[in-house]
Amino acid sequence: MAVVPASLPGRNFPILQDMRPGMYFSDDIIAEVRAASDIVDVVSDYVRLKKKGSNFFGLCPFHQEKTPSFSVNPELGIFKCFGCGAGGDVFRFVREVEGMSFPESVRTLAEKAGIELPEEGETSRERADAMEAVYGALRFAARFFHDELTRADSGQKALAYMQRRGYSEATIRGFGVGYAPDDWDRLLKEAEAKHISAETLEQAGLVISRKSGEGYYDRYRDRVMFPIFSHMGKVLGFGGRLLDAAAGEQENPQPKYINSPETLVYDKRRVLYGLRQARQVVREQEEAVLVEGYTDVMSLHQAGVRNSVASCGTSLTREQVQLLHRYAPRIVLVFDADGAGEKAARRAIDMVLAEGMSVYVVELPAGEDPDSIAQREGASLKDYLVKHRLDFVRWLHDTAHRAGQLDTPEGRAAGMRAVLQAIACIPDALTREAWLPRASEVFGIPEGRLYDVLESMATSRQREEFRRSARTGRPVSGAGGQPTGRSARRSDDPSVRKSRGPASGARPSVFSALATEKILIRLMFEQGLPMVTYILGNTSLNEFSPGASRRAVEGFAEQHRAGSMNRQAFLDGAYGAEVQQLIAEVAIRREEPSENWEQKRGVVVPRLDENPEEAARQAMKRLKIVRVDEAIARRAEEQSRAETSGDDIRTYQQDIIQLQALRRRLEKGEVIR
Ligand code: UTP
Ligand code: MN
Repeated sequence: MAVVPASLPGRNFPILQDMRPGMYFSDDIIAEVRAASDIVDVVSDYVRLKKKGSNFFGLCPFHQEKTPSFSVNPELGIFKCFGCGAGGDVFRFVREVEGMSFPESVRTLAEKAGIELPEEGETSRERADAMEAVYGALRFAARFFHDELTRADSGQKALAYMQRRGYSEATIRGFGVGYAPDDWDRLLKEAEAKHISAETLEQAGLVISRKSGEGYYDRYRDRVMFPIFSHMGKVLGFGGRLLDAAAGEQENPQPKYINSPETLVYDKRRVLYGLRQARQVVREQEEAVLVEGYTDVMSLHQAGVRNSVASCGTSLTREQVQLLHRYAPRIVLVFDADGAGEKAARRAIDMVLAEGMSVYVVELPAGEDPDSIAQREGASLKDYLVKHRLDFVRWLHDTAHRAGQLDTPEGRAAGMRAVLQAIACIPDALTREAWLPRASEVFGIPEGRLYDVLESMATSRQREEFRRSARTGRPVSGAGGQPTGRSARRSDDPSVRKSRGPASGARPSVFSALATEKILIRLMFEQGLPMVTYILGNTSLNEFSPGASRRAVEGFAEQHRAGSMNRQAFLDGAYGAEVQQLIAEVAIRREEPSENWEQKRGVVVPRLDENPEEAARQAMKRLKIVRVDEAIARRAEEQSRAETSGDDIRTYQQDIIQLQALRRRLEKGEVIR
């Protein structure tokens, strides 16, 4: 049940325009989901809890700690960390720990509790239906392939192949490994018998439509199938491997792996193979082991290194690193001991460091890969990986040394520069500096001027980052500010100012809207990403006034998408001079809600620093009320115009009634979570 009545046309209602009805759930539904979610149960998925009295205690998942200061109170249904201050209800917990918006957390918990959520708006419903169908097809295919491997005669040779490679039944089951039979349309026929359409199979990447004539054929034939799961356990796609290497060397060579294409449900940049199976251990050990291949992951898990993951047939992406960061602060790279592996490791080091995580590298003997080491070391693999791990400075040094690069002064300088370049990726200046003594020690070069070189590298790197994020990612909007000197000059131009001045007869509500928006902008600026999640999860862009205010909010949304907050970008003018001024104003002037407002509307507004979340909630409430009032006024105007021209006014009346109902709910403090 959506807050916004479906019959309302959105066109003339800024507040309604991009407010997808599905963004909001009725209070009843939320209460139902909350009641069905045992907070201890939910938290236990992430934290090992011990009961003490009526509370449960464990290590806080939101900051690093050695002694438990994180507690859960099942009676009140809340959690609280006395170390870092995190706290809230079960929705807040899921949002924080999974980095989700509020609606996503409702969906996640509802799914866990088996509660069916009401339908979303028309277009998103169609999309959701299509996604559901694709998920269904993928799930069906995974089961079919697995049965073929473990039960059918046709899968015998594939099973034998996996066993020959040393994989146990438990591993094969745990990773849902399967076999796609040597046939052009077995899956297609089996699926159609179960009323899964060929179109859905195609959308799922499982079949391919024939170039000539009609019909489809199976994408995967005579291959071992590795299903790729989302971290929530949904099948997203497959990697299908040739049964034996020889097949790749025939006259008509086949690729070793065929991977699912990207689909409605599969975004390769955001998925890691094995994360579903690994995530709990990654969290516990505060460390993920990153390898290159599907088989590496399975072998490591089987040998007891159950925190290992891999990217799926793509090189490592920033999104994947960010995904891992949600679970652990540290990544250990175990890449193949070949040129490609070394190159991939270099790239990965920079990416992991840039994400603000720490990184170690395990160097394997020439020609080995994690799979072969795991099969050889077995249970002692864990120790092997601890014993052979190098910090990134050491590893970069050793590879340069092995290549004979360090034999000349020039070579040593180049090697050192490469290391400094890696250190320069680290976003935090103190951490950067902390690595300098290590670099100087490993290379035997005195620290001396390293600091200056490093900082100039870091600065130019950051500048480059800004430029890149300013070039890409920003939504193209007509008035979008460019991060150039030109836009700064433009807004200093008095003629421009004048033309932007308050329109005569401007509604006073616009001004109170802007003041309220400034509070929200300041809160996002000061409190960072969790606050951005909270505010943007509850408002739509169109609720913010066009111009600097909306552009600033677009900036927060963009940074939110990128996964990290860059305050400096706002102050540097990367979002245009007007946004720069606006941010400076809210950051310095400490815009507080006026007493007036409190009296007039009976709204208690807490000081921003005391309870930022409550302040945000109140400000959002005020902003929404203003927008609803504007919509009502517009509707009333249209109504009176219709009246004079003798048109039917019923729809206007209905709209106004519904808007007034929405307004009452807002006044009561409903709608916003
Ligand atoms: P590898 O060639 O190292 O394969 O490629 P592997 O996973 O170790 O498999 P085995 O042990 O030889 O059987 C590493 C990863 O690169 C991607 C796959 O994700 C693979 O797991 N890859 C490789 C492809 O996507 N396509 C290919 O043709 C080869
Ligand atoms: Mn390999």
